[in-house]
Amino acid sequence: RNIVILISGRGSNMQVIAQRAQQQKWACRIAAVISSRADAEGLAFAASHQIPTAVVASKDYPTRDAFDAALQTTIDGFSPDLIVLAGFMRILTARFVDHYRDRMLNIHPSLLPSFPGLSTHRQALAAGVKLHGATVHFVTTELDHGPIVAQAAVPVLDSDTEQSLAERVLQQEHLIYPLAVRWFIDGRLSLLDGLVRLAPESS
Ligand code: GRF
Repeated sequence: RNIVILISGRGSNMQVIAQRAQQQKWACRIAAVISSRADAEGLAFAASHQIPTAVVASKDYPTRDAFDAALQTTIDGFSPDLIVLAGFMRILTARFVDHYRDRMLNIHPSLLPSFPGLSTHRQALAAGVKLHGATVHFVTTELDHGPIVAQAAVPVLDSDTEQSLAERVLQQEHLIYPLAVRWFIDGRLSLLDGLVRLAPESS
């Protein structure tokens, strides 16, 4: 099973997934880490861990469709079974999303359906919620609204800033994303009417 991970920056979620896959000897390989930016720090981590890397820089393409077509060609060169969006800061076209239907995951730093879009921690603080968190979901053509695979909740403290809240959420992202990817790789996730079913661990 081949996993391709898409990043745009730090890539901390990619790092945790790559390390967990290696430590736990998952029945899969990180076939490639592909970035939409040449300056993404995550590329250095991947290269130093013998993971093939590629850059499909959004600024090199005149239209969103042209970018997505180039990205798809690059991704498919690695024969992926699963696409993992991890800090990937591009909105993908419906054609691209449909090509990877039911085999593309994303992590969003909020408890969806609350706070889709950007600046989720600022949204949470402004709304005065007492619980916030992260969501792993299948990617569909509706931004930040695909079938939910896993969520983790953290308390919002009166003393919280965007930064302190983001750090608390990121810690949980690093727990639930590897878990969700492992479930997919182990064939334990099924989709029915937009709901995710998790099969029991095969004994
Ligand atoms: C994280 O907040 C994550 O929720 C979002 O992008 C941010 C950076 O993640 N997807 P990473 O460190 O690049 O994985």
